[in-house]
Amino acid sequence: MKKIIVTGVTGQDGSHMVEYLLKNTDHKIYGAVRRLSVKNHENILHLENEPRFELINMDLNDAHSMRDVVIDLQPDYFINFAAQSFVAGSWDYPIQTWDTDSNAVLHILESIRRFAPSCRFYNAGSSEEFGDVICSPQDEKHPLRPQSPYGAAKCAARHLVRVYRESYDLYAVQGWLFNHEGVRRGLDFVTRKISHSIAKIKIALDSNKTIPILKLGNIEAQRDWSDAEDFMEGVWLMLNQDAPKNYVLASGEMHTVREFLEETLKCANIEFKSEGSEDNEKYYTLDGQLIFEVDPKFYRPAEVHELCGDCSLAEKEMGWTRKTDFAGLVKKMYESDYALLTR
Ligand code: NAP
Ligand code: GDD
Repeated sequence: MKKIIVTGVTGQDGSHMVEYLLKNTDHKIYGAVRRLSVKNHENILHLENEPRFELINMDLNDAHSMRDVVIDLQPDYFINFAAQSFVAGSWDYPIQTWDTDSNAVLHILESIRRFAPSCRFYNAGSSEEFGDVICSPQDEKHPLRPQSPYGAAKCAARHLVRVYRESYDLYAVQGWLFNHEGVRRGLDFVTRKISHSIAKIKIALDSNKTIPILKLGNIEAQRDWSDAEDFMEGVWLMLNQDAPKNYVLASGEMHTVREFLEETLKCANIEFKSEGSEDNEKYYTLDGQLIFEVDPKFYRPAEVHELCGDCSLAEKEMGWTRKTDFAGLVKKMYESDYALLTR
């Protein structure tokens, strides 16, 4: 039985990855968690009694904890999903973002090189590395033009992964994953903020309660959104090729934040009218109740205006495909949040 370390298992991707690996492999999975004052294991609670899944302690901000785990376990695979993953937060915590998203990757690579050189390593790369894009769609050849401390840290990690792969002949890769969402998405990210808020608004409208107004920043930003569950197979395929290579995983479709909002309102059967523009834009129900407004507080110091991925290489060389489309993703997220709030 092979041993796989997965970091970030309390988050969205890590928890989906553990489920994917339990279902599709016979390997033993070690889910790395850090100690927090208040435990946040909701995404993995259902896996607690799974014999092939075990939790281990590891903090990406402590090099010793990563080294010791690699020495003790001698893993066959190391999948690093842990990160300070909130782009907007990376201006508030640039040093912590750099330490977690870049320095920690160097510590993992060093531990693998020194103590488990046959271990295959995946680091979670991002379309945010393409940043201020020069053409659309973006494929593996698009230059790195990060716009945030988060994007810069992921670019640094990408160079480190390549340098270690080439210098020490490690199987080390960093895919470029475009935005992927789902029912386990953190509430700060725009898609989940929308699905959760619109479900709350729907419940308030139906029960004549005070409307909790949704406030968003740049609703003209365009993203390439997929279902996180569809990406797990792509990551596993990337780790199991004859030779290590980085691939783009994406949907190839671009939608604005406004489109995501309006598609969610459609799912909730809320008809609306719009008033004002730019910083002053607001949406009202047809009987005049305010449900949404632009709030410049959510604008970023620098923005990535558009992202659209070209995943044809991953499709051609690894045979990877995605299953859920944009409308399906919005529906799944809205219905899950509505069920959660009315349970
Ligand atoms: P997420 O839900 O925010 O999960 C992040 C995970 O990292 C959490 O489990 C968190 O643990 C853990 N973590 C943070 N700091 C840590 C530390 N110092 N030590 C140990 N664990 C730590 O993120 P996600 O959406 O699943 O994304 C997974 C990875 O893919 C991230 O690297 C992200 O940057 C990258 N990525 C995501 C997307 C996307 O659209 N989702 C796209 C491209 C790349 P706690 O619960 O303890 O905080
Ligand atoms: N979070 C948030 N909150 N974003 C908003 C809001 C708001 O109220 N209003 C508008 N937006 C816009 C942001 O300015 C951005 O252009 C877009 O919505 C998406 O924001 P997020 O959902 O926070 O995601 P992201 O694209 O910045 O980053 C995500 O995707 C990256 C891959 O491209 C994260 O998952 C990163 O970890 C990931 O690397």
